[in-house]
Amino acid sequence: MLERLNEIEAQALKELDQVSSSEELQTWKTKYLGRSAELGVISKRLRELPKGERPAVGRRVNEVKSALDTAHDERSGALRATALEHTLRAERIDVTLPGRPVARGRLHPSTLGLRGILEIWREMGFQVYDSREVETDEYNFGLLNMPPHHPARDLWDTFYTTEPGVLLRTHTSPGQIHVMRERAPEPIRVVLPGMCYRYEQITARSEIQFNQIEGLAIGSNITFADLKGTLNAFARRMFGQNVRTRFRASHFPFTEPSAEMDIECFVCGGQGCSVCKSTGWLEILGSGMVHPTVLENGGYDPREYSGFAFGMGPERIVMLKHRIEDIRYFWGNDLRFLEQF
Ligand code: DAH
Repeated sequence: MLERLNEIEAQALKELDQVSSSEELQTWKTKYLGRSAELGVISKRLRELPKGERPAVGRRVNEVKSALDTAHDERSGALRATALEHTLRAERIDVTLPGRPVARGRLHPSTLGLRGILEIWREMGFQVYDSREVETDEYNFGLLNMPPHHPARDLWDTFYTTEPGVLLRTHTSPGQIHVMRERAPEPIRVVLPGMCYRYEQITARSEIQFNQIEGLAIGSNITFADLKGTLNAFARRMFGQNVRTRFRASHFPFTEPSAEMDIECFVCGGQGCSVCKSTGWLEILGSGMVHPTVLENGGYDPREYSGFAFGMGPERIVMLKHRIEDIRYFWGNDLRFLEQF
């Protein structure tokens, strides 16, 4: 009987060596360690043996069983390690492969221009005031000193809505009235940025939509010198400390006196080139002292208060700065243009 046990052990270990998968291992286990395996049968029949042989055979049965158990566990561990190594090898991640690029968004050149300009005004103590894009005829024209049928209205080709008296603002100036009516009689120092609309032929130089930044300062003793000083300070921050400026008399119904401000052409340094059309100067904004009628419409007594206002086009400034020759690029949604900013 002991001999047979030795044979079983040797046979089992030999077969275990050949096992190369977990399925085969399971078959092996059933064969040698399962309920109907020979080893189990022998141990069940121990009592049938002569009494003298029982202890030795019993001990040997246990030894063989634990040897096979141990061998099984080792084999099982080894098989799992090989399988893991195999999957690691087969499913290896190649970390040197370049990743898929994430398409990154960016700010629109108009937004960049707008933010740059607003940042300067913020530093100079001007608050941003948001005003509506859909306006009434009264705010866009009437309260700005352009009564119905006033010829100055012809300066602004207007999108009217089907609602009588309601239109898309042609400039940010109606925002002046909104701030004044909200703040009067407090002093005011605000900038009003936003989209404006004009019913115009779209060309390289004119669009039906564009941004403006309006500025308004109201208080006691505000003079034309404040207007010039403030706008000069802005120009230096925007275009460089040495930029030269000039004011040209102009006319707007809502300011008196009115002036347009030019800066020396930064492309040619004033020599004359195609950007400044050989004049040496670039027009960047309209401005003036707030008209007494407009002050009154805003709720300020013109005998006590005065103020200045200005309006500029950020797209125009971005165009000058980057020498963009066609304003239609701004809303053309062409990535070849937009991705350059
Ligand atoms: N609203 C004017 C326009 O769209 C620009 C402007 C000129 C605004 C003079 C002002 C100003 O506030 O004082 O053409």
